[in-house]
Amino acid sequence: MNAIYLNEAQLSLDDFATVSQQTLHQQDYPLAHGAQRNVLIYQAESLINAARDDRQSVLSELHRALSSGPGVFVVKGLYRDLAAVDRSSQLFEEILRDEAASGGGDHFARAGSNGRIWNALQKVAERDADAFIDYYGNPLLALICESWVGPGYEITAQVNQVRPGGKAQQPHRDYHLGFQSNEVVARFPLPLQILSQYLTLQGAVAHTDMPLESGPTQLLPFSHQYEGGYLAWRQPKFIEYFQQHAIQLPLQKGDGLFFNPALFHAAGNNTTADHIRTANLLQVSSSFGKTMEKVNHVKVLLSLYPALRQRQLETEQRHAVIAAAAEGYSFPTNLDTDPPLGGLVPQTQQALLLQALQEGWSEVHFDQQLSEHVQKRQA
Ligand SMILES: [Fe+2]
Repeated sequence: MNAIYLNEAQLSLDDFATVSQQTLHQQDYPLAHGAQRNVLIYQAESLINAARDDRQSVLSELHRALSSGPGVFVVKGLYRDLAAVDRSSQLFEEILRDEAASGGGDHFARAGSNGRIWNALQKVAERDADAFIDYYGNPLLALICESWVGPGYEITAQVNQVRPGGKAQQPHRDYHLGFQSNEVVARFPLPLQILSQYLTLQGAVAHTDMPLESGPTQLLPFSHQYEGGYLAWRQPKFIEYFQQHAIQLPLQKGDGLFFNPALFHAAGNNTTADHIRTANLLQVSSSFGKTMEKVNHVKVLLSLYPALRQRQLETEQRHAVIAAAAEGYSFPTNLDTDPPLGGLVPQTQQALLLQALQEGWSEVHFDQQLSEHVQKRQA
C-alpha cells in the first residue's frame, strides 16, 4: 500500500491474514524467557538484571517486540511486591463501592457484568499516597513505558473488573484512532494513522490471577502491522478472522501485559462461576501525544508530596514515582511568562518536583512554587 489515503474498499483480508500469520522467532529476542502462542514472555528479574548492564539494549528489544515483532509481550512478576498490588486492589474496591452508590458506570459494557474506574491514577493518589508510591515506584514499569514512548511520558490508569458471566468485547484497536469513527479515521493520512500507534503504550497489570476461563485479553499477534487496521476492525470478515485466530494467555497476579495499541484485541468471556477478573489498565502517552484522560497533576502532587518527603526511596524508585505523578513535558506553555531556564525548554513539573525533594522544601513552599509554576504557564 503506497496510498496516502485509504478507504474501506481497499482493505484486504488476505493482507491482514498474511501479516497476522507471521511466526515469532524467539532467538531474535535474546532477553525473552520464552514465547507462547506468538507472544514473548519476559521474566521481570532478567529484565532488571539486563538493564543494570545495558539499559539501552533492553529498551531496544522491548521496542522491537512492539513494532517489528508480535506487538505484545508479557512480563511475569512485574510486581514482586504483591502487597502493593493488593493494597491498590483494596482501594479499587472502595472506589467502586463509592461510585456505585453515586451512580457511576462503564460506557463499554452492560451494567452489572463489569466494574470500571476511570482515572484510577488520580483517585488512588488522592486516597492513599503511600499506596501510589509503592505501586508506581516500579523502575521496571518505568523502563517499559520509556521503551515505547520515550521519556517524559504521562500515565493514565483505568481499572476494569469483569465479573462471572461478563461477556467478551468485540475485537478493536485502542486509543487514539481506535476511538474514532471510520469517517474520521479516513481523513487522517495513512502515515499519521501509523504514527498514532507510537504515541501510546497499552498495558494491563493483573490484580487477580487470570485463568483462561476468566477471560484474559484475546490477542491477535502481529495484527498491529496491518496498515488499514483502523478502518478494518468493525468489518464482519475481520471480526470473524479474529475470532478464529485470536489467542489468550493465563496471567498471574502481578504479571504485566503490554501491547501496541494498534494490535487487534478484545476482553474475553468470564465463564467462571465465582472468579472476578481485575486489571489495572495503563495507558501510557508519549509527551508528543494527547492523553485520553485528563489527570489533575496538581491534586496528585499535593496529595503525594508529604509522603514523598518522608519516604526513603531508591533513586530509580523515586524517578518512577515522579514520572507517574508529574507532567514530564515543557510544552505547551506561555513563553512570555515561562521562559527556558538555562537551556531551550522551560522547567517541567517533574523537574520542579525533583528539585523540591532534593532541596527538602516544606509542604507550604512546594505548594507555593507549584501554584506559581501552573500560573506562569497559563496563556
Ligand atoms: Fe482495548
